[in-house]
Amino acid sequence: MRTVTVLPGRRSYRIKIGPGLLARLGQECAELRLGSRCAIISDTNVRPRFGDTAQRALAQAGFQPVVITVPAGERAKNLKTVEACYNKLAAQRLERKSFIVALGGGVVGDLAGFVAGSYLRGIPFIQVPTTLLAQVDSSVGGKVGVNLKAGKNLVGAFYQPLLVVCDLATLSTLPMREYRAGLAEVIKYGIISDAKLFQRLERDLPKLLAREPGTLAAIVARCCEIKAHVVEQDETETGLRAILNFGHTTGHALEAISHYGQYLHGEAISIGQVAAARLSAKVLGLPQIDVERIRSLFERAGLPIGLKLSAAQRLQLMAAMSLDKKVSAGVIKFVLARRIGEVKFGLTVPEALLRQTLANTLPPSLPHSITPTSHLHHVRR
Ligand SMILES: NC(=O)c1ccc[n+]([C@@H]2O[C@H](COP(=O)([O-])OP(=O)(O)OC[C@H]3O[C@@H](n4cnc5c(N)ncnc54)[C@H](O)[C@@H]3O)[C@@H](O)[C@H]2O)c1
Ligand SMILES: [Zn+2]
Repeated sequence: MRTVTVLPGRRSYRIKIGPGLLARLGQECAELRLGSRCAIISDTNVRPRFGDTAQRALAQAGFQPVVITVPAGERAKNLKTVEACYNKLAAQRLERKSFIVALGGGVVGDLAGFVAGSYLRGIPFIQVPTTLLAQVDSSVGGKVGVNLKAGKNLVGAFYQPLLVVCDLATLSTLPMREYRAGLAEVIKYGIISDAKLFQRLERDLPKLLAREPGTLAAIVARCCEIKAHVVEQDETETGLRAILNFGHTTGHALEAISHYGQYLHGEAISIGQVAAARLSAKVLGLPQIDVERIRSLFERAGLPIGLKLSAAQRLQLMAAMSLDKKVSAGVIKFVLARRIGEVKFGLTVPEALLRQTLANTLPPSLPHSITPTSHLHHVRR
């Protein structure tokens, strides 16, 4: 088992990483001096697979777990589901020392974390992420929240878990498409802060795609370390944390103009990171060979690296980019790479250069093949 310690602000907590950890969840929680009542919040895909193991592990350690199941998918990450969870917690008489276990992907983690952070003004919370994206990204850093009709993650808080348990064995049932989407964040960590990790990904990608346990353990742990390190220095996102958004300005805009239906987040930011690499070459002199290495790694991971857009869609994309949360005073701020492993944040890019780069990364479709926004086509080269 690998352990990564996170030290945000006043409190520290551990991320434990290894295969089969779910069966030890009770022992891990027993070390935290929690009350005996607890609620496992999970979704309709994860509960049938891992709910019983989690419940048994907690019961064997003397806890009294109840399970709350929410619908799977992003659409359930809303205030209605939050209220339904509050009502179930109250009906089960969970009190201040009771705790919540989030068992699932990023949707469950964000939602259950928000419930934990607000029920009775906050009760303890344990993350048990079961997607690659949740293990390397959303379960680390303490951002919790839900979506509004007006946009994603518009309501939320910073609320840290007491413990994160990454059972790598849970990833074995994750659909390949979801797994690849998680790899887009993994590759991001290499680009933003660790050239050696990037090299290792280039070398070990086949093992990683095969979910080989040893490789997976080392890489998940390294990604958690990087995210933890960034978050420790900038818990509430006033500066450095921006580097985690490499490729996300374009990625978020792509998700928005395709109405969040076409792309998984990881797929959108794969395209976004390739675009950001090309922009980095122009603005910060990222060597062309590194742009190519970045493009090639995403491609080998089976992720989309470009997109055919009509002129109208490209305009929509630019408009969506200026609506992104990371825009301040109307200026889009970019995170760009100087070399693999080193990025700068808070950069502005002349609009003409941005248009030109997007035109290359996202080539226009032929006049006769203009597609509706909801049917954007990947470009795989
Ligand atoms: N808090 C943060 O810092 C942060 C960071 C990044 C993303 N997020 C949020 O995370 C969410 C995306 O997370 P996600 O990609 O994990 O999505 P998700 O939670 O929707 O999980 C993806 C799908 O896989 C299923 N699933 C989960 N684990 C499984 C398993 N082991 N086997 C089989 N199926 C499984 C889920 O039911 C779902 O259908 C978004 O809402 C995003 O806003 C938050
Ligand atoms: Zn992301």
